[in-house]
Amino acid sequence: MKLRSWLSVMAVALTVFTVQAQEMTEEAIKERIKPVGSVNIAGAEAQAASGNGGARSGEVVYNAACVACHGAGVLGAPKLHAAADWQPRLDARSLDGLWQNALNGFNAMPPRGTCGNCSDDEIKAAIEYMIEGI
Ligand code: HEC
Repeated sequence: MKLRSWLSVMAVALTVFTVQAQEMTEEAIKERIKPVGSVNIAGAEAQAASGNGGARSGEVVYNAACVACHGAGVLGAPKLHAAADWQPRLDARSLDGLWQNALNGFNAMPPRGTCGNCSDDEIKAAIEYMIEGI
C-alpha cells in the first residue's frame, strides 16, 4: 500500500515534469526561430543592400514573406516579375492601389502577406521588387 501511493506520487511528478519540459522546449524553439527569420539575417542583409536606416529591401522582404505564394502563383497570386500577371492590376489600380490592397488584404491575399513586422514601406518595396522590369 505504501509503495503503491509512493509510486503514484512519482508518476504524477514525472508527468508534470515532462509537460513542463515540453513547454520549455517549444518556447525555446520559438525564441530561436524568431530572431533568425525576421530580424538578424533579413535585417542585416537589408542594411548591407540598401543602407537606408534598417528598412529591409524589397527583395529581402519578398524572400521572407511573399515568395511562398508569389513565387509559383499559389491561389492565383501574381507571380514575381510576370508582366502578364501584374500589368492588368497596375492598369486598374496603380501602384498605390496595389499597395493598399497588400496592406489591407485582398481576396486570398492576406493582410501584409502575413508579415506582421513589415512596415508599410517594406511592403511597398516588396511590391516594387515583384513588378521590377515588367
Ligand atoms: C498566402 C499567400 C500569399 C502571401 C504569403 C502573399 N500574397 Fe500577395 N497575393 C496572394 C493572392 C492569392 C493574390 C491575388 C488576390 C486576387 O487577385 O484575388 C495576391 C495579390 C497581391 C497583390 C495584388 C493586389 C491587387 O490589388 O491586385 C499584391 C500587391 C501583393 N499580393 C503583395 C504581396 C506582398 C508584398 C507579400 C509579402 C509581404 C504578399 N503579397 C504575400 C497571396 C499571397
